Amino acid sequence: MKKLPFAQAAASRFRRHWLLAPGTVFLNHGSFGACPKAILERQAALRLEMEAEPVQFLWRRYEERLEPARAALARFIGARPRDVVFVTNATVGVNAVVRSLRLRRGDELLTTNHDYNACHNVLLAAAREARAKVVLAQVPFPLRTEEEVVEAVMRAVTRRTRLALIDHVTSNTALVFPVSRLVRELESRGVDTLVDGAHAPGMLPLDLGALRPAAYTGNLHKWVCAPKGAAFLWVREDKQAELQPAVISHGNNTPRPGFSPFQDRFDWAGTFDPTAWFCVGRAIDFMGKLLPGGWVELRRRNHQLAVRARRLLCESLNVPSPCPERLLGSMATLPLPEPFQGRPKAGKLDAEQLLLYDQFGIEVPFVRLGAPERRWVRVSAQIYNSLADYEYLARALKEVE
Ligand SMILES: Cc1ncc(COP(=O)(O)O)c(C=O)c1O
Repeated sequence: MKKLPFAQAAASRFRRHWLLAPGTVFLNHGSFGACPKAILERQAALRLEMEAEPVQFLWRRYEERLEPARAALARFIGARPRDVVFVTNATVGVNAVVRSLRLRRGDELLTTNHDYNACHNVLLAAAREARAKVVLAQVPFPLRTEEEVVEAVMRAVTRRTRLALIDHVTSNTALVFPVSRLVRELESRGVDTLVDGAHAPGMLPLDLGALRPAAYTGNLHKWVCAPKGAAFLWVREDKQAELQPAVISHGNNTPRPGFSPFQDRFDWAGTFDPTAWFCVGRAIDFMGKLLPGGWVELRRRNHQLAVRARRLLCESLNVPSPCPERLLGSMATLPLPEPFQGRPKAGKLDAEQLLLYDQFGIEVPFVRLGAPERRWVRVSAQIYNSLADYEYLARALKEVE
């Protein structure tokens, strides 16, 4: 167990539901999520069932466990089960959609300068193969209104734009993009939208039946707190026929009664451990029962904690906040103070970030953005966090600067 160099005030009473190491302050739920003990116990029990009867579990009775999970997820995201498939992560979802496009030379794939590097690489690879082009809409940061996002994206649309990749919640800058407006405006210009909702499920309310982009992918191992490897891809009915998973398996010529061809193709990508998917209903249920007001209260609480954390840190570090509070979900990115600026990157992680973990037990990501490059820190707020965690971070940052 780590020993923190200075005492922390009250920790969240919900932390006991997680396995987070004692003596650590976990402010990076955003990267990989963290799964509650009760859900991991359920997953362990499912794994025992799988190893006791591998063929029954993975083949004959596979759908008996898959379908309740899919139905619970579909309710949670406002979708019809027939339009939803599980994937192992949002990267897989983005790959399936982008690599299914039949691009022609000169076509354009639109994205923003806030996109996630892995997904940006998918666009680059697809464009390179077809001699198409990736067009980057320059969304400012800091920014004052969501209008600036819409304007930057719409300004980058041309007659050749085939698909726009729009993050619902951006990774490094932790902004909630106005996806509903963007999907409508892009559609009115004849452009399909793939929403990268890696962070959205569990952080923001979702109603995909109303949003209706061409496709939407989201992680469940982040803010729904399902085990790692749980994510989904929703595809609008008229776009399903042209979609192939990144990994082809039996589904292409093995229809199952009661399932759509889209589901047949995606439900089985070769032998794997599906227990993370089977736990999704439990995770939705578990997290939704932690507070009397259910998911609505949980999302509101996490958002308010992120807002209060940012106020506290900006004030204590004497740095400006880069966006209005209404553009935050349950993460916030803020500038690091001047003494941190101008120090070049020397390894996979910044030296001060390593120091924060090794000396203070704090897990928090630093990011470098823009030209000239500025350094930022991103904090996450999940129910196991308390305001004391951010007070502790503010104190530690002053020690390592
Ligand atoms: C916006 C965005 N897209 C995609 C991903 C990739 O998620 P995964 O690694 O689960 O595929 C992330 C991960 O943080 C992300 O922030």
